[in-house]
Amino acid sequence: MSAILSNVSGKVTSLFAFTENPHLNGGQKLASKYFTVAMVLFLAQLLFGLLAAIQFIWPDFLFGWLDFSVNRMIHTNAMVVWLLYGFLGSVYWFLEEESGSEIVGLKLGVIGFYVLTIAVTLVVLVYLLIQTGPGKDASIWFINEGREYIEAPRWADIGIVVVILVFFYNVAATFAKGRWSGVSGVLTLDLIALAGLYTAGMFYLTNITADQYWWWWVIHLWVEATWEVLVGCIMAWSLMHLLGARRKIVQTWLYIEVALMFGSGILGLGHHYFWIGTPDYWFSIGGFFSALEPIPLVAMVVHSVYDAGVHKFKATNHPAMAWIIAHTFGNFIGAGVWGFMQTLPQINLYTHGTQWSASHGHIAFFGAYATINIAFFYMAVQKWRGNVWMSGDLPGNGWKWKWSIGLLNFGVLGMTVALLIAGYEQAFIERAMQGSTWDAYFAAQSHPWFREAMVWRTVFGLVTIGGLGLLIWDLMTIGKDESRPALALTHED
Ligand code: HEM
Ligand code: HEM
Ligand SMILES: [Fe+2]
Repeated sequence: MSAILSNVSGKVTSLFAFTENPHLNGGQKLASKYFTVAMVLFLAQLLFGLLAAIQFIWPDFLFGWLDFSVNRMIHTNAMVVWLLYGFLGSVYWFLEEESGSEIVGLKLGVIGFYVLTIAVTLVVLVYLLIQTGPGKDASIWFINEGREYIEAPRWADIGIVVVILVFFYNVAATFAKGRWSGVSGVLTLDLIALAGLYTAGMFYLTNITADQYWWWWVIHLWVEATWEVLVGCIMAWSLMHLLGARRKIVQTWLYIEVALMFGSGILGLGHHYFWIGTPDYWFSIGGFFSALEPIPLVAMVVHSVYDAGVHKFKATNHPAMAWIIAHTFGNFIGAGVWGFMQTLPQINLYTHGTQWSASHGHIAFFGAYATINIAFFYMAVQKWRGNVWMSGDLPGNGWKWKWSIGLLNFGVLGMTVALLIAGYEQAFIERAMQGSTWDAYFAAQSHPWFREAMVWRTVFGLVTIGGLGLLIWDLMTIGKDESRPALALTHED
C-alpha cells in the first residue's frame, strides 16, 4: 500500500517538476503549481459550460448520462475554484518580495496545495458519479450541499478551511517576520474576512429564507467586497511592477477603493434580500447602497489607466498590462454597469430570475476576476522564463496573445449580449405582459428571441473556448526563444 502511495505521489509531484525553476523563489514555485491547476480548471469550466449551453438547445443531449444540473454545477464550481487558485497563487507569488522574507511555512503550503487539489478532484468525481438521489444528512456530508456555487460536500468544506488557514498563517507570519506595507496590511485583514465568511455557508438551516440569508454572506460578500479588495491589492502590486508606479500613489488609491467598496458592498447585500422573505426595509437599504457600488469600480479604472498613462504605457509586460486594463474596464462594466441595471427593486421585480442575471454573472466574473488572474499568469511566465523581454516587439508581433485577448473578450461580450436579449424578452413577455403566470414562464422560454439567443450564446461560447485555446498555447510558448532581458524600470518608493 505504502509503495503504491509513494509511487502515486512521486508521479503527481513529477507532473509539477517544471515549477522547480532556478529563476523562481519558493513562493513563486508554489504559485506556479496553483496557476497550472487554475488553467486546467478554467478549461474544464468552459467545456462543462458548453455542454450546459448545448442542453438549452437540445434538452435531451446526454440526458441521464450527464445532466444539465451537473454540468452547470461543475461549470460554476470550477470557476470559483480556479479563480481562488489564481488568487492564492498570486499572493504566494509576491509574498517573499513584498515582505522581504522567506515564506515561514512553505512546506506546509506545498502540502496544502496537494491536499486541496486531491480534494477538488474527488469532489468532481463524486459529482459525476452520483448525479441523482435523495437529499439526506449523509449526502450533505459526502455528496453535495446543494447551495449554488459552493455545492462541495461538508468534508471538503472543512478541508478547504484548513488549507486556507495554512495559507493565512503563511501570509501573516511571513509579513510579521519580514516587513509590513500598506498593501500587505490591507491584504491580511481582507483574508480574515474572506476566510471567515466562508463558514457562513457551512451550516444548514431548514428555513429556506434563513438558509439563503446566510448563503448570500458568502456569495455576495465575497465577490462584491472581499474579492474586490483582494484584486485591488493584486492590482496595486502589479502596477508597481509593470509600470514602476510609486508605492505611495498606488497605496493611496487602494485605501480609497477599499473604503468605498466596504462602504457600499456590505449593505449592498440587500439586493439579494428583496424577494426571499426578509423584512421590507431591505428594499431601501439594498436599493440605495447597491446603487453606490459602481463608484469604487470607477476609481479602479481611473487608477490603472491614469497610472499607465503617466508612465506613457511603458510596461515591462505588454500582455499583462493589456489584461490589467481589460480587468478595470471589465470590472466597471460587468459588475458596475450590468449590476446597476438590475439592482433597483423596481427593476429587479421584472428581471429577477431571468437570463438578465446570467448575463451580468458572466461579464462580471470574467471582467473582474478572470482577467486579473490572466494578467498575473503572464507576469509569472515572464519570470519563469528568466525575466525576459515582453514589452512589445515580440516574435511574430505577439499575434497569439493579441488574438487570445481579443477572442476571449469578444466571446464573453457576445454571450453577455445574447443573454441580455433573452433576459429582456423574458422580463417583457413573462413579467410585464403576462404577469408572471406559469403559462407566461413557458411562453417566454419558447419565444424565438429566447431560442435564438441560446444558439448565439453557444456560438460565442465556442469563440471564447477558441480564445482560451490560444491563451494556453501562448502561455506555454511566449518568451521561449527570447534572449533580451525585460525592460528595466526605475523603481521609486
Ligand atoms: C465583480 C463583482 C460581481 C460579480 C462577480 C457578480 C456576480 C453575480 C452573479 C453570478 C449573480 C447571480 C447570482 C445568482 O446565482 O442568483 C449576481 C446577481 C446580482 N448582482 Fe452581481 N456581481 C458583482 C457585482 C455587482 C454589483 C456591483 C452590483 C450592483 C451595482 C450587482 C448587482 C446584482 C444584483 C442586483 C443581482 C441579483 C439579480 C437577481 O437575483 O435578480 N452585482 N451577481
Ligand atoms: C464557453 C463559454 C461558456 C459557456 C458556453 C457558458 C454557459 C453557461 C450556462 C449554460 C450556464 C447556466 C445558465 C442557466 O442556468 O441559465 C452558465 C452559468 C454561469 N456561467 Fe457560464 N458559460 C461560459 C463561460 C463562462 C465564463 C468565462 C464565466 C466567468 C468567468 C462564466 C460564469 C458563469 C456564471 C457565474 C454562471 C451562473 C450564472 C447565474 O447563476 O446567473 N461562464 N454558463
Ligand atoms: Fe450582490
